[in-house]
Amino acid sequence: MILSIESSCDDSAIAITEIETNKLLFHKKISQEIEHSVYGGVVPELAARLHAEALPKILEQTKEYFPHLKAVAVTSTPGLAVTLVEGVTMAKAVAVALDIPIIGVNHLIGHIYSLFIEKQTQFPLTCLLVSGGHTQVMEVKSLSDIKTVGKSMDDSFGESFDKVAKMMGLGYPGGPLIQELAKDGNREAYNFTVPLHQSPLIAFSYSGLKNAVRLAVEKADGDTAKYKDIAASFEHIATKHLIMKLKKYFKTNPPKRFAIVGGASANLYLRSQIEELLKPYGAKLLLSELQYCSDNAAMIGRVGVDMYKEKSFSTVADLDVQPRSNL
Ligand code: KG4
Ligand code: ZN
Repeated sequence: MILSIESSCDDSAIAITEIETNKLLFHKKISQEIEHSVYGGVVPELAARLHAEALPKILEQTKEYFPHLKAVAVTSTPGLAVTLVEGVTMAKAVAVALDIPIIGVNHLIGHIYSLFIEKQTQFPLTCLLVSGGHTQVMEVKSLSDIKTVGKSMDDSFGESFDKVAKMMGLGYPGGPLIQELAKDGNREAYNFTVPLHQSPLIAFSYSGLKNAVRLAVEKADGDTAKYKDIAASFEHIATKHLIMKLKKYFKTNPPKRFAIVGGASANLYLRSQIEELLKPYGAKLLLSELQYCSDNAAMIGRVGVDMYKEKSFSTVADLDVQPRSNL
């Protein structure tokens, strides 16, 4: 079995995965959403302190599996340096105490593998990652052959929802809150410009849209009906931006198997628009189970299983945290 630990942002999670069967034997996550909600975003120092409280509590519950552990896998990149360190330090202690190898896992590959929890992998695949930290399109041929073909130049898709929610004083995380508010709004009410619509680049940008929304929110001055229309129009344009860039990319790289992963892949409007986009290609759409869209340790454990089979181990002395991903 593999013990896996996730602490890259505001979720403390530990899982136990059986190597032979990919079976998830244990998974527990303690989220910090309530604690960060008053600040409208994640406060790194607070997050680190909460991980230091939560991770040992969860680890204690996994003791019965210790005699069966073959390796410990931990998110080591990308994420907040001060929170990654909490998980990595715990993983090192477990690895030394049990004399087992340590595996440093890339959180973005973790999101890709959220598709394969308790399942076999399915490659090749074109993958859209939409989370709080990332917006990128990847061509995934295997665990070790992942090519990023487009990414955000500034804010991420999920982050833009968080910021719009903060402007409206709704709390954190903003994705589900904006999605809910948008349900009763008119998507055509505000004519926000689609980012980079004239650019030939396969790239994303959310800072301009965010600023346009800020002006609209200020003008609406707390009017609930207008907030609903702004939320709906923002969600529509934020999604249309992804769809237009994917359409452009598909002209030269038609998809056969396509996946949406990451916390924001839970967005229902995005899911419906991607389904429409894929129809002419007859491409198969892969989605993670809703409970595994946001950060979790099950996806890190699933990557851990494949890295264990390839003997992709680090040493306790050398495994370092890397706040930025090399993907
Ligand atoms: O993958 P994740 O849990 O954490 C990161 O690795 O960043 O993603 C969290 C992000 C947050 O920005 C959150 O607002 C967004 O995913 N999110 C959503 C929805 N649910 C979560 N964004 C849009 N619509 C949603 N339904
Ligand atoms: Zn994530």
